[in-house]
Amino acid sequence: MKLFLASNNTHKATEFSALAARGGQPVEIISAREVGGMPPVVEDAGTFVGNARKKAQALQARLGDAWVLADDSGLCVAALGGGPGVESANYAGPGADDAANLTKLRAALSAVPDNKRAAFFCCVLVLAGPGGAEHVFEGRCEGRLLREPRGTTGFGYDPLFVPEGETRSLAEMGAVAKNLLSHRARAWAALVAGMDKRAFERMSG
Ligand code: IMP
Repeated sequence: MKLFLASNNTHKATEFSALAARGGQPVEIISAREVGGMPPVVEDAGTFVGNARKKAQALQARLGDAWVLADDSGLCVAALGGGPGVESANYAGPGADDAANLTKLRAALSAVPDNKRAAFFCCVLVLAGPGGAEHVFEGRCEGRLLREPRGTTGFGYDPLFVPEGETRSLAEMGAVAKNLLSHRARAWAALVAGMDKRAFERMSG
């Protein structure tokens, strides 16, 4: 089946394609980029699921009765009351880059002791289909935040984040190891568990 991804981010399309291929799901991920680009969406719903739903509905409005996958994700830090959360991309201000967001996070946590630096990445997937069908899935990657960035791979907050049971930051682990335990991989696993293979086949027909 064709699954249209409500994102212009080709890295995400590659990542979800790899997850589907690894799991043997009969799914072809097609980036919004390949079908005229992602319509503009203001991510102001205040929740991951609300923002992901807005993205899914925006692309579906363009494509008609297609199956659309949308995701929204972010970093939730216990010492910041769950922030930056849905504001992760713009934590240091609208359009902030990864370096500015990391600098702001390090400063915000500078007085937080080592045993209070728990955080998790969250990814919510909204799978929207013909006739208003909607399925929601969530994946989390729990861990803790370093004081100094480490590593050079990945993006976003990866250099500060050490997943539970690991000693390396996500940016030190590299893409293959990260994709085995990331919040996106876990959200995809939840989707696969919720939509068994026959359901994928029904969606194709
Ligand atoms: P979005 O889901 O693309 O809107 O991502 C929101 C923001 O959350 C990103 O800009 C990053 O700052 C952060 N983020 C989401 N996933 C990751 C990840 O896997 N590593 C590091 N940062 C992430």
